[in-house]
Amino acid sequence: MTDANEGSDVSRRDYLKVAGAGTLGVTALAGCMGGGGDDEDTTTDSGSDETTESMDGEDTTTESSTDYETLEVQHWWTGGDGAKAVSALFEGFKQEYPDIEVNQNPVSGGAGQNLQTVIKKRVLNDNPPSSWQAWPGANLQPYVEANKLEDIGESVWGENGMKDAYLQGPKDAAKPGGKFVAVPLNIHRLNNLFYNTKVVEDAGVDPSSISKPSDLVSAMETVESETDAVGMAHQTKSAWSTSQLWAQVLLGEYGVETYEAFTEGKVEANKDAIKDSLQIVKDFQSHFNSDAGSISWTEANKKVINGKAAFFHQGDWAAGMYRGQDGFEYESDWNHVPFPGTEGVYALNMDSFPMPTNNPSPEAAKKFLQYVGSVDAQERFNPKKGSIPPRTDVPKDEFGPFLSQQMDDFANSETQVKSIEHGLAIPPEVKSNFGDAMTTFTSGWNVDKTYKQMKRAFN
Ligand code: GAL
Repeated sequence: MTDANEGSDVSRRDYLKVAGAGTLGVTALAGCMGGGGDDEDTTTDSGSDETTESMDGEDTTTESSTDYETLEVQHWWTGGDGAKAVSALFEGFKQEYPDIEVNQNPVSGGAGQNLQTVIKKRVLNDNPPSSWQAWPGANLQPYVEANKLEDIGESVWGENGMKDAYLQGPKDAAKPGGKFVAVPLNIHRLNNLFYNTKVVEDAGVDPSSISKPSDLVSAMETVESETDAVGMAHQTKSAWSTSQLWAQVLLGEYGVETYEAFTEGKVEANKDAIKDSLQIVKDFQSHFNSDAGSISWTEANKKVINGKAAFFHQGDWAAGMYRGQDGFEYESDWNHVPFPGTEGVYALNMDSFPMPTNNPSPEAAKKFLQYVGSVDAQERFNPKKGSIPPRTDVPKDEFGPFLSQQMDDFANSETQVKSIEHGLAIPPEVKSNFGDAMTTFTSGWNVDKTYKQMKRAFN
């Protein structure tokens, strides 16, 4: 990491204030800095596979040039969490712009649990990188309101036929305040249930027959009585994976209307559904691997790969990891079904790259963002990442059977619900409070206490 990343020990309380500053300006953002670093979310995953496999040992630095300042791009795609995909992206960029020196400066930690703190601090200090990995939409709202992002409607979105080629959803997400400020690179699906084919076959369990989340509990009991595997691989070291899981349980058990009512803050009216969904996740918890509290999501996913666990819930970035694993083949070794009860639904998440003001390398950043929005970039990155492209004109040949099916499912889906955990469906300040509630949940699995906190999240 560079100096810019040092001291990323903003306390969770302050971090949340910043994260929740959707309606506040730059003064309020600035007032939130400092503090003590007393929380797991600000701890890097050092020693985990996400760090040690970082960047596949690839040096992405190219020849420097007098025409461009160095392009610094921060992301959390290290190790099994997308390193091969992001390497492919920068390889393509290097071919197209050999004159631009690139400094990838990743901060590992699934779902941006560490990078997001670093970025907030850097932006507040007017020392942003050239661009960084960010969920688009409402997540960028605080930066827009603090005037920290630039309008790239012409300089970037005017190129490569982007305005015509992008799907409407990602296009809308790129302009949270009405102006284009970011470029989405991928679309991930969250309502997947992955499994190890051999383990479920040995157990005599048919995943496609599991029609709702609560039925998954008895399927996992069967797995555990018939095989040596645990029912579900999971990580609870950081709460985000359980937030995602709970949201899919609510969606699968109670349907799109209830899910959307929750995102609109109708918590009391859906008390029973919300509490029951928490209880179902608590029931799942007795089938998690015993080291769930101390591992990363990529380590959890390895348990599916080596047959120590049957099921796995994650976004389809999990499949990006399977694809990078030699001898672990789609269908014969791993497979997936839509999360029980969610067939016909595509639960969405995206990653994008914004353009900050006070950019250390504005010209190189524009070229990079134009590239992110191109067919070439999206064709290189998405197959390896386990995501589908937000452009409609990317050839499908490289995507393989799993992602081709995801593309079809996306095209045929009746509803595309937005992710709660990734802040596409709820405002930033609510998301922060919701994250707190889920941290409470993973600390003690107390349904009543978590429910009360969820209710307060919207006030
Ligand atoms: C998501 C992100 C994905 C993936 C995942 C795990 O938030 O959109 O690209 O990296 O986190 O870290």
